[in-house]
Amino acid sequence: MSPTVVLRVVARLTDPLSIGGVTLPNRLYRAPLLECAGNGPDAVDTLIADLEPAAAAGAGLVCQGATIVRGEGGCAAPGMTRVHDPDFVAEMGRLPDAVHDHGGRIAIQLEHGGLRSMETWHHGHRARNPGVEQVAVSEPPRPLRLLDRLGFLSYDAHVLTTEECYDLAADFGRSAAYAVDAGYDLIHLAGANMGIVHQFASPFYNRRDDEFGDPARFFEAVLAAIRERAGDVPVATKVPAETEAPPGVGPTLSADDCVRLCRRLDSAGYDALVPVNASVFWDMSIVRGAFPGDSWRDERFRDGYVDAFGSRPRAALVAAANWAESLVYSRESAWNDELCRRVRERVDVPVLCEGGIRDRPTIDRLLDGSTPAADAVGMARPFYAEPELPARLLRADAGERGVAVVCEDCNNCVVPQAAGEPGVCRTPSVLRRAGELRKAGAYDRGDDR
Ligand SMILES: Cc1cc2nc3c(=O)[nH]c(=O)nc-3n(C[C@H](O)[C@H](O)[C@H](O)COP(=O)(O)O)c2cc1C
Ligand code: SF4
Repeated sequence: MSPTVVLRVVARLTDPLSIGGVTLPNRLYRAPLLECAGNGPDAVDTLIADLEPAAAAGAGLVCQGATIVRGEGGCAAPGMTRVHDPDFVAEMGRLPDAVHDHGGRIAIQLEHGGLRSMETWHHGHRARNPGVEQVAVSEPPRPLRLLDRLGFLSYDAHVLTTEECYDLAADFGRSAAYAVDAGYDLIHLAGANMGIVHQFASPFYNRRDDEFGDPARFFEAVLAAIRERAGDVPVATKVPAETEAPPGVGPTLSADDCVRLCRRLDSAGYDALVPVNASVFWDMSIVRGAFPGDSWRDERFRDGYVDAFGSRPRAALVAAANWAESLVYSRESAWNDELCRRVRERVDVPVLCEGGIRDRPTIDRLLDGSTPAADAVGMARPFYAEPELPARLLRADAGERGVAVVCEDCNNCVVPQAAGEPGVCRTPSVLRRAGELRKAGAYDRGDDR
C-alpha cells in the first residue's frame, strides 16, 4: 500500500478545530495532568478548582488527568480518581458544566496502570492492600524483574487471558458511557506513559501469542467497547514511541512503529491522536527538565517518600536515579514536534502536540510552519504555575511579543505526587512571577482574540 500524503490548510491558534464532530473554539489545550483529587467528598470541587480556570481563561480543550476505569487496583499514583461508579461520575458532571459555561470543551482521560500501578511500586500501598491483584499484558520484562530482585519493585502479576482483555476493554467502554452521560465532550485514552494501553502497544511488555499480541488490537477493542456503550463520542488517544528507552533495553516501539500504529488507529476510527516520545520505563522522558532537588530535600515530604519507596536509603537511591535521568532528559523545546509532524503527514484525523512547548512563537510554528506538526497544541506543567495561562497565550499579539510561560521545568511539582501530595507549582520564584502577572491583569480575558 503506498503511503498517503494528506495536504491541509495551515491554522492559527485562535481558529476552531473539529474533533470527531465536536468543535473546539481554539487550538490550545490543557494536557492531562494529575489533579490527585481522589474520590472523596471534596473530589469534584477539587477538580473544578483545578480545571475551571483554564476554561475561564479561554482554553479550547481541557483534558482532565488520568482516571481509573476499575474500582480496585490500576492507580499509577496516589490520589487518582476512579470512574467505575456511575453515581460518582454523574456527580462529576458539575465539572463539564463549569467548563461549558466558559465556552470550552472537556475530555476525560481513561486509564489503567497495569505494571505501572501502585501495586508494583508503592511500598506502603502494597502493605496496606496485600490482596490487590497486579494486572499484566505479559510476564514482566527482564529489566523490571531485576528491579524486583533489588527490592525497588514487587511483581506478582496476573497475566490477562484473552477474555479478560475484553473485560478490561469493556470497563473502558462503561466508564466512557458514564462520562458522556455526565456531559464530557471527548474521551481521551491514556495510551502512552507506560499505562496498560501503552503496555499492549509495546514489544517490551507485550509478548502475547493471542490476538492481543498485535500492538493495535487493544486500542481497537477499547474503541469498539466505547462505541458500543457510549455511541459516537469523539475518542482521542496518546500514542507512544519508545525512542527514549535506555540503550540496550528492548525490543522497543520505534518512531516508524508509532507512525504505523497511528495509521492503524486512524483507520480504526480514533478521532484524534497525540504522539509522544517516551521510554519503556516510567521516567523523566515524559517530563523533561531539571532534577527537582528542592522537592527531594523538603522535610515535609520525607515520610511520604519513605512510605512510597520503603525506607530512607531506598528513597535516596530513587532520588539518585532521578538525578541521573535529569542528565539524559534535560529541558527540551517541543520535543515531540518531529514525531507529530511525521504522523500528521500520514493520517487524516487531527494531531495534538504537547511536551516542552513554552511560548507563543513555538506554538505558531507548530501550527502554521511550512509543514505544520499539529492541529492543536497543549501544555501540562505550565498550567500548575499559571492555571489561567490561555488568557496570555491567546492574545492576538502574543506571537509578536513572544509571550512565554513562567514555568521553568524544574519538576518540583512532580516528585511530591509519589508521596501523595497534590499537583501544584512548588517553586516560589515562579509563583511570584505569576502573581505579578496576575496583578498586572495579564490573565484578564481581553477582546483582542
Ligand atoms: C505531574 C504530572 C502528571 C501527569 N499526568 C498525566 C496524566 O494523567 N495523563 C497523561 O496522559 N499525561 C500526564 N502527564 C504528561 C503530560 O500530559 C504532558 O505530556 C507532559 O507533562 C509534557 O508536557 P509539558 O512539558 O507541557 O509538561 C503528566 C505530567 C506531569 C508533570
Ligand atoms: S514546580 Fe512550577 S516551575 Fe517547576 S515544573 Fe512544576 S509548574 Fe513548572
